Amino acid sequence: MQIRDERDEDAAGISRITAAAFATAPHSNGTEARVVEALRQAGALTVSLLATSADGCIVGHVAFSPVQIAGVAGRWYGLGPISVAPDLQRQGIGGALIREGLARLAELNADGCVLLGDPAYYSRFGFVSDPALTYGGEPSRYFQRLLLRGKVPKGDVRYHPAFDVA
Ligand SMILES: CC(C)(COP(=O)(O)OP(=O)(O)OC[C@H]1O[C@@H](n2cnc3c(N)ncnc32)[C@H](O)[C@@H]1OP(=O)(O)O)[C@@H](O)C(=O)NCCC(=O)NCCS
Repeated sequence: MQIRDERDEDAAGISRITAAAFATAPHSNGTEARVVEALRQAGALTVSLLATSADGCIVGHVAFSPVQIAGVAGRWYGLGPISVAPDLQRQGIGGALIREGLARLAELNADGCVLLGDPAYYSRFGFVSDPALTYGGEPSRYFQRLLLRGKVPKGDVRYHPAFDVA
């Protein structure tokens, strides 16, 4: 498996793998592939990484995009959507994408990263729930952050408007 940045010709493959990964996910609203497309169109895919198999097929993808905290656009980013081919899940591909993505954010001097997801999975990468950062009405246990630099800001987090395609 290799991890690399997305290229122009990857867009359709990324949409396909995103739709496939979320097709059976219980919390999916079916819009994840469109969110990635809308982020790309808006120039808001700050980091967009692919995992590819030895024969070059796309087997996973992760997107990171800027978020606002308490109405302020700073250096915090949201992780997601993240997708791994259904028949290749639980083999470390998602973890490799997350670790590489966080390393890229650190290179970009990001202050931190947030996500909405299962703490049982994301805590292994250093994500923690923090009541200082809220995400609408979502239970704080599922909204997690990873501090890369400085102090944790306080406030409600707003993802890029591309997420509103839902
Ligand atoms: C979530 C996802 C990206 C993880 O990628 P992956 O390659 O399967 O994960 P990894 O192989 O790196 O990690 C596997 C470990 O994570 C755990 N895990 C995977 N998905 C999990 C989840 N949704 N909740 C809790 N634990 C999860 C597995 O139990 C496994 O743990 P173990 O190593 O202790 O057995 C992938 O399962 C996926 O595409 N799911 C469908 C789309 C989705 O739900 N995306 C995330 C939305 S928040």
